[in-house]
Amino acid sequence: KRAAILISGGGSNMKALVADMGGDHPCRPCLVASNDPAAGGIAWAKAQGIASAVVDHRPFGRDRAGFETALRAQIDATAPDLILLAGFMRILTPDFIRAYEGRMLNIHPSLLPKYPGLHTHARALEAGDTEAGCTVHEVTADLDAGPILGQARVPVLAGDTEATLAARILVQEHRLYPAVLRRFAQGERGRLDLG
Ligand code: GRF
Repeated sequence: KRAAILISGGGSNMKALVADMGGDHPCRPCLVASNDPAAGGIAWAKAQGIASAVVDHRPFGRDRAGFETALRAQIDATAPDLILLAGFMRILTPDFIRAYEGRMLNIHPSLLPKYPGLHTHARALEAGDTEAGCTVHEVTADLDAGPILGQARVPVLAGDTEATLAARILVQEHRLYPAVLRRFAQGERGRLDLG
């Protein structure tokens, strides 16, 4: 299956996904696209010989539909079977999501349904949670609320800061997303819970 990966920054999740897409893996990357021309993941993808595209959202201002039309043109030109959001930081309209619903995944750095949206680590620390983690889910029109496909948990340790907790969770993101994608691409829909 052809997988288009959308990023906004360094793309560590994209790199983990691409690294796993070898051999008997059912997916191959067909595109890495970013809304930010400065995204480090774009240079990395180019160096790997993976098709890449940048659609800067800023010139579109509040014209979300215009940005998405341009982005969809880049995505659809590579005929992906799956769309993987990986550190992609733009909210997508229901029209965009409808075009890919059922074949678009996202990774979110919290144990959904807790802490949808931003600043998830700060909120977990603020709440005094003893555990935290990440979630891979299908993308639907409700932000960070689609069917959960997998989660990975980590302990929150005394003295944790946003940075130390984020780093601990990011390691698990890089395990969880590739594992969930393998199953999803083979038609499995059950939840995968990594320790
Ligand atoms: C990660 O915390 C991820 O959970 C969130 O974006 C952050 C950076 O991801 N979605 P990446 O390194 O760009 O993949």
